[in-house]
Amino acid sequence: MAATKPPSIVKPRDNIVITAALPYANGPIHIGHLLEYIQADIYSRFLKLTGKNALYICASDMHGTPIEVNARKVGKEPEKFALEFWKEHQVDFSNYLIKFDNYYQTHSSENKELAEYFYHTLKQKKLIYRKKVQVIYCPHCQRYLPDRYVKGTCPHCGAQDQYGDICEKCNKALKGTNLISPSCSLCGNQPIQKESEHYFFRLSTFSAPLKAWFNNPDSGIQPEVRNWLKEWINKGLEDWCVSRDAPYFGFEIPDSKRETGEKKYFYVWLDAPIGYISSTQNYCAAHKLKWEDYWRKGQVYHFIGKDIAYFHFLFWPAMLMAVEIPLPKLTVHGFITVNGGKMSKSRGTFFTAKDFLKLYSPEALRFYYAAHLDRKLIDVDLNFEDFKSAINTVLVGNLGNFCYRVLTFAEKNYGGVKEIAAEKGIILEMKTQIKEINKNYSEMDFKSAVKNILNLSDIGNAYFQKSEPWKSKDDKNTKAAVGLCINIARDLAVMVSPILPKFSVEVFAACGEKKEKISWKEVGFTWKGRLSPVRILVEKIEKLPLAVKFPLHMVVGKITGVKNHPHADSLYLMKVDFGTWGKRQAVAGLKKYLSPEQLLNKKAIFVINLKPAKLRGEMSEAMVLAADDKVKVVPLLAEKSAVGEEVCFGDMDNSTQEITFEEFQKLRMDVLKGRVIYQEKKLKSKVEEILIPNVKEGAQVR
Ligand code: 2FM
Ligand code: ZN
Repeated sequence: MAATKPPSIVKPRDNIVITAALPYANGPIHIGHLLEYIQADIYSRFLKLTGKNALYICASDMHGTPIEVNARKVGKEPEKFALEFWKEHQVDFSNYLIKFDNYYQTHSSENKELAEYFYHTLKQKKLIYRKKVQVIYCPHCQRYLPDRYVKGTCPHCGAQDQYGDICEKCNKALKGTNLISPSCSLCGNQPIQKESEHYFFRLSTFSAPLKAWFNNPDSGIQPEVRNWLKEWINKGLEDWCVSRDAPYFGFEIPDSKRETGEKKYFYVWLDAPIGYISSTQNYCAAHKLKWEDYWRKGQVYHFIGKDIAYFHFLFWPAMLMAVEIPLPKLTVHGFITVNGGKMSKSRGTFFTAKDFLKLYSPEALRFYYAAHLDRKLIDVDLNFEDFKSAINTVLVGNLGNFCYRVLTFAEKNYGGVKEIAAEKGIILEMKTQIKEINKNYSEMDFKSAVKNILNLSDIGNAYFQKSEPWKSKDDKNTKAAVGLCINIARDLAVMVSPILPKFSVEVFAACGEKKEKISWKEVGFTWKGRLSPVRILVEKIEKLPLAVKFPLHMVVGKITGVKNHPHADSLYLMKVDFGTWGKRQAVAGLKKYLSPEQLLNKKAIFVINLKPAKLRGEMSEAMVLAADDKVKVVPLLAEKSAVGEEVCFGDMDNSTQEITFEEFQKLRMDVLKGRVIYQEKKLKSKVEEILIPNVKEGAQVR
């Protein structure tokens, strides 16, 4: 007799999909990205722990101009280029114990089919139309340029060298076509404007339903986000251009060649979120499930960063409404700052996922992020001093110490647990915390869950300490007290497992248990059994990362005296006032180029950490910086800055450590477009950018 299939035991509403933003397959994962993948991972692990049928779904976002351009630069096909990152990213995620149920790609047959399904549905519903628009074209590169690939002067504030999407000076949104004297950022040549026919999605018709959605408290939209949405919609939604011109790495728009005379491609942001569905579909196909049971009958939770809120709260829900798929619940997180500032390579605060692992354990980062995450939309600062103390005093000192201590004590002295103290007071207190932990996790308030977990381990620590088991090891009550402590440790391992999965596995291993899946149901006060020696649970942090500094200490000094060097024809002796840094004598080889009058009372930029040296018998304790284009030598002036003020390259701090002249000579600072540049950063003081007109492009500063 053919076996009849048992009815599904999963209620459709139980089907949950968790997603994190699909990272571009275009560069390494860094610790800024990891916040979101860890946040979503904790939530997914918690849901699974409590018996929910949740899938954690992600994929590489493979399309778009940057991937296409970067692949060509290294001589690779975009698909191959992206696939390499697809592989690399999965290694990074797995190293941080981020466990996806499926990690797919947007350049897949499923995604193509679904993108076309969305597009045809929109077209059928008359939500797509064609319009001729002005685009930017570089005749030299023979390609259309996205706004990000054009540079020029901002038409609003006049700032030079701005990308065509946003002015970093005045923060106004731009269009590449509005830039004054534009240049192609790929080849530097001047692009032209051209007409091109494009496809538009009638986003404007969704204002009312979108408004209704975010005004409905059931949508769970965070208040900060709701305010943005109100603002965006009140300003009036513009229709959205969903096509791009060739060359483009993406899916060709069906019939575009026939309709417009040229091949057009779906804009990456059209098919990227569809990738959430196609990755689910790919998983479901492999597991004999239906993606519709998740997307149409279940609940989808997206975790995203605030930079992509516009796409996820306007375009994506509008598209979903059009194809009649229920709307997801979204959680937006803030950015990661490091030591209070934007992550920066030059300050040594930019860490790829790989580099960070060379210094610290993945669970240290997971713990720190969890302890800072709730559903409020604030930036999380990874302050290394804080990080060290959170790991050493809290994670290691409290939670780790308690579990390690009681497990070691019990294993060494008793080999296991046979009796458990019935401490009603403690157990009651614990039960309250346990309920709170569950509630806080469900509300994505991991910060509070961590606090409750630490409260629990505090209770355990205090009880262990008070029981003083080392004083009367063989006493029956002592054994029972230790038995209760083991149960607390084991409960902690369950409850902290979404955040510290490896820690939990080790605690369970010490309890002689190897579990495929830990369940919240394990939490209780009745566990008895044999113990095994416990391995290290968490490790202390010894070192903080070193910040990268610019090796010169550059300060504005006022030249208060200039005279000829008594023993050298080409040198001046200058008296320089550096304000708080004191007064110093500087020997300078400027005599061939400038008269004493041209230097006197000028504010110039000096290096004040060069090893003092005698030059032809005269002490030099500072060195003036000057641009040398082989014809002229022009000192760097900073007339608007205060005497004694530091001058820096971009966000890079100056080092004050003494350096030798040989070390100084190895540095390379160039003059480009009238500015002093070091590693693409401009030299500036607090009040001015240092300008150096009238020297040839490429002059060296020394
Ligand atoms: O901003 C980004 O990194 C995008 N790749 C995120 C895409 S999320 C989703 F829509 F696919
Ligand atoms: Zn070009």
